Amino acid sequence: MSASKAELYRDLSHQLTALLAGEANLIANAANMAALIYHGLPNLNWAGFYFRNGAELVLGPFQGKPACVRIALGNGVCGAAASRGATVLVRDVHDFPGHIACDPASRSELVVPLIEGGEVSGVLDLDSPLIERFDEIDQAGCEQLVALFVDHHHGYPG
Ligand code: SME
Repeated sequence: MSASKAELYRDLSHQLTALLAGEANLIANAANMAALIYHGLPNLNWAGFYFRNGAELVLGPFQGKPACVRIALGNGVCGAAASRGATVLVRDVHDFPGHIACDPASRSELVVPLIEGGEVSGVLDLDSPLIERFDEIDQAGCEQLVALFVDHHHGYPG
């Protein structure tokens, strides 16, 4: 199971590299990455981006139900990952004080910050309707996908 999950992330990395190749537009690439993840990983009900704008995170491209548009740094799981500059893996959102329930169906969550030159420029947020959907393999796999995205856009954020 673990081996196949690691393989799935290797496959997604290859697909993401192919999707990004030759395209500099951040919004277009973020939209395709959200779609790739949402349709490529099982048991998700939301996958997408928030981008940093000063002291807030603002909703970016995503797949899933409409979500809250602005999240203050430090608030919710997304704001915690952004203010810490580190991935936050929440096995049961009911155990995370301050979790923002955009969709009450969400029961676990994984948020990976986008870090460029030491600054957090946004987060990738994955939600699942299953408790304990995400583990360390998901964390490593999503951090790898985010690193591909950030490296690709380094130098040309438009
Ligand atoms: N649950 C997140 C808010 C974003 S939505 O899940 C899409 C949080 O607590 O930060």
